[in-house]
Amino acid sequence: MTGRYPCLIAVLLHAVSRWHLLPFTPMQSREPGRSRLGSLGLLRFRRFELSPTKRRLRKGVSVADLRGIARRRLPRGVFDYIDGGAEDEITMRFNTQAYRNVTFKPRVLRDMSEVDTTSTLLGKPIPFPLVLAPTGFTRIADPAGELAVARAAGRAGIPYSLSTLGTRSIEEVAAVSSGRLWYQLYVFKDRGIVNEMIDRAAAAGYEALCVTVDTAMLGKRERDVRRGFTLPPKLGLSTIFDGIVHPVWTWKFVTSEPIVFANLAGQAVGDGTEAISLAEYFSTGLDSGLDWDDISWIRDRWPGPIVIKGIQSVADAVIAADRGVDAIALSNHGGRQLDSAPAPFDLLPAVADAVAGRIEIICDGGVRRGSDIVKALALGATACMAGRAYLYGLGAAGEAGVDHVLDMLGSDLRRTMALIGCASVKELDREYVDLGPGHS
Ligand code: GLV
Repeated sequence: MTGRYPCLIAVLLHAVSRWHLLPFTPMQSREPGRSRLGSLGLLRFRRFELSPTKRRLRKGVSVADLRGIARRRLPRGVFDYIDGGAEDEITMRFNTQAYRNVTFKPRVLRDMSEVDTTSTLLGKPIPFPLVLAPTGFTRIADPAGELAVARAAGRAGIPYSLSTLGTRSIEEVAAVSSGRLWYQLYVFKDRGIVNEMIDRAAAAGYEALCVTVDTAMLGKRERDVRRGFTLPPKLGLSTIFDGIVHPVWTWKFVTSEPIVFANLAGQAVGDGTEAISLAEYFSTGLDSGLDWDDISWIRDRWPGPIVIKGIQSVADAVIAADRGVDAIALSNHGGRQLDSAPAPFDLLPAVADAVAGRIEIICDGGVRRGSDIVKALALGATACMAGRAYLYGLGAAGEAGVDHVLDMLGSDLRRTMALIGCASVKELDREYVDLGPGHS
């Protein structure tokens, strides 16, 4: 019974909003000074939005707003897994703050009637220079998980990188995607697993292999350690309470297929069917002996471009360029691995000076606004990569939330370009940004 009342109220509000308060005759149609209701006649209701998702998204005017909505909708353990970083989260904060420390040097009176945000990445055209980062366990934010993200990226025309720890498989994601797909590779001690994943990604038409190299061990994510976060979550008093106070998420979680590492189904390393902590999983399964020579055998096996993700120094950027990989992602894993690692955005000028023109540079981490992408491009990035930004959208409103984030970042970027007086992203350079005292 109670469920009907909100519905009835919604229908009544909708009717009133269509009616635009017509019982109150608009002032303009009365003789001056004859209004019985005074300024009430000017009132207009906003049309009531019947779709709860659209109502929610109307309040999500920025990525920060969507983070707030996701925080309310997701159980705290799930939100913290997505939102949290390593140790004191210093690097995680650096990643976003680095963009805010730099201001623009805008130019005016330049014809901005056409702004071109198109560029190229790995030699192919892209409507705006952004890649959706690989993220593990994506279905905990919403059961549609990686499929929703791949569809949204395809609609926006930008690449999406599926994670080795994805909760939908290489083939499932390829089947729904209309766009460019990359496969993020974790290198397991058991090379048979790695070879098989590489071959499956090639067979499914993935464009690039994104090899993550900043995980010699898993970072200490203290929010997860405190909660004993595992996948699937182990039931304890706190998880039961968390589930009860987030009934929509809990209902979806218990009524959708179990969440497992879909790419590792049946493998001896485990596919998440048994509750696991990520730290144990990494220390038992991943190869902490990985070195630059391993990149050579990966190169020999993989037919397409290779992106090395997790470069955090100029020296390693130079080695990657010397080794002939196609791109590097400057990345500290969203501040989830080494705390006190530098922000990728801060590394950009020196890395671009050392390797630009030889290798493409992707700046990963901390992107919350289109203006962040503009700043990174001005400092020499070929594109940016974002993970949490779209996960907040996914947690706030499912697939529509991811679309919303991508629309927002794209339109922010276009507006920023117009306001700094640069008509094409290909023309962005250091002349448009002020790095502050001590920088030329
Ligand atoms: C997985 O890669 C994670 O950062 O949690």
